[in-house]
Amino acid sequence: MDLPVKTIPGGYGVPFFGAVGDRIDFFYKQGTDLFFKTRMEKYGSTVFRSNIAPGPFISKDSRVVVLLDAVSFPILFDTAKVEKRDVFIGTYMPSVSYTGGYRMLAYLDPSEPRHELFKRYFLSLLASKHGKFIPLFRSSLSRLFVELEDGLSDNNNGKHKGGVYFNDLNEKMSLNFLYNLFFDGIGPSDSILGTDKAPKFFDSWLFFQLSPLMTLGLPKFLDPLEDLFLHTFPLPPFLLRSDYKKFYKAVNEAAGPVLDEMEKLGISRDEACHNLIFLVIFNAYGGMKNAFPVLLKWVGTAGKDLHHRLADEIRGIVEAEGGLTLASLEKMRLTKSAVYEALRMEPPVPFQYGHAKEDMVIRSHDAAYEIKKGEMIFGYQPFATRDPKVFEKAEEFVGDRFVGEEGEKLLNYVYWSNGREVDNPTPGNKQCLGKNLVVTMCRVMLAEFFLRYDTFEVNVGTVPLGSSVTFKSLTKAARI
Ligand code: HEM
Repeated sequence: MDLPVKTIPGGYGVPFFGAVGDRIDFFYKQGTDLFFKTRMEKYGSTVFRSNIAPGPFISKDSRVVVLLDAVSFPILFDTAKVEKRDVFIGTYMPSVSYTGGYRMLAYLDPSEPRHELFKRYFLSLLASKHGKFIPLFRSSLSRLFVELEDGLSDNNNGKHKGGVYFNDLNEKMSLNFLYNLFFDGIGPSDSILGTDKAPKFFDSWLFFQLSPLMTLGLPKFLDPLEDLFLHTFPLPPFLLRSDYKKFYKAVNEAAGPVLDEMEKLGISRDEACHNLIFLVIFNAYGGMKNAFPVLLKWVGTAGKDLHHRLADEIRGIVEAEGGLTLASLEKMRLTKSAVYEALRMEPPVPFQYGHAKEDMVIRSHDAAYEIKKGEMIFGYQPFATRDPKVFEKAEEFVGDRFVGEEGEKLLNYVYWSNGREVDNPTPGNKQCLGKNLVVTMCRVMLAEFFLRYDTFEVNVGTVPLGSSVTFKSLTKAARI
């Protein structure tokens, strides 16, 4: 169908002041969702021009074309049309001093030969660990559930009040799993990797790189100060240098065989080690920190009815199949759907960016727009995956949305991995390398959960760049 070609509405305002004004709206006056919603309504369009945070002086150019619908958004996955060089987290790139002076895989465009080299190797590394995922993840989860139950019984005994904060338990569990998967032999209690300092260091390392996109939710009167410290100038990487070196040394020793293999491919051991750290800590740990609270938030707040249906499905299939395996997970239609639905409602990495490689025309539901070579295209994913023209009751969590033939077709519009759910990561695209692992882990988390418990209640909140979940109650399975 030929759609009318329209001029992209919106604009950037006066240089510098327009960008700072938009930043203040984005972080403080409106907040993320309202920032996009008000502009979408004002321009009557899901495609418009705007500045995007952080703006000056951290990003050189904050002008973007914003995409908010399910039809225009996938242009960001088309690496023939969109350049993904140095745009992994935004209109700025953190200093390479955080990563030994190298640009990591996630910052490389597929047209750069090193993208293919690293992605192909890491894909094969993950494939080689295929058989280990489920047993390792299950054993990390069992510890998490013990801690969760202990915490809740302390609560009931009046030792702590206010429930058990899931995010902290999740972070410990995620690191435990990742160490065992990638740094065989080095347990979290063995070295610098395992001290209490390590998770704090990782959080600081992530925070220093991501702070231009964050607000800490401080009292209002501190907003100008926060804006100055987090969003105006980059934090100095040298503050983390000495701890990073210690961690680097520990990984270098723990991951010998992987680094040997990478050296054989012509990658220096130094660059290989920095890339492995980035993969495990930034990509995987950073992603797991956000993704599991999202999953339990949406399934938790969906209520008892869904919990009982999930428990029935999971217990029935595990019993019939004789255990929890990849094959049994594949049969859990409702469980799979609930995972996709959580990732649709709240994609854990909500912002995607890319520069137009050429002059092009992009399409939304109702119009076409010309974009010039070099312009930055920006997608705010939660609006695209809650597009009411694609999803009925788009703003509601519908646990069985993706069950059945019609439901499965909707997977074309689930984008959390920076690609369609029906597609897979390859050396030539920019889709999340951990896509299938992440979906498997989410399914295992629900399966393990509902094998043990009938239902649960949570309080939900926000943390910088994500959601928080606090367990209020947990009802043990009446029958297993
Ligand atoms: C747990 C939740 C996770 C989420 C929500 C997530 C999300 C994403 C997203 C949105 C991107 C694309 C960013 C962009 O270029 O715009 C991405 C890329 C990437 N992810 Fe994940 N990820 C997760 C876990 C993992 C895991 C477990 C691994 C590896 C074990 C991983 C490895 C990567 C890598 C290497 C890239 C860059 C791919 C490339 O440059 O071609 N991620 N991830």
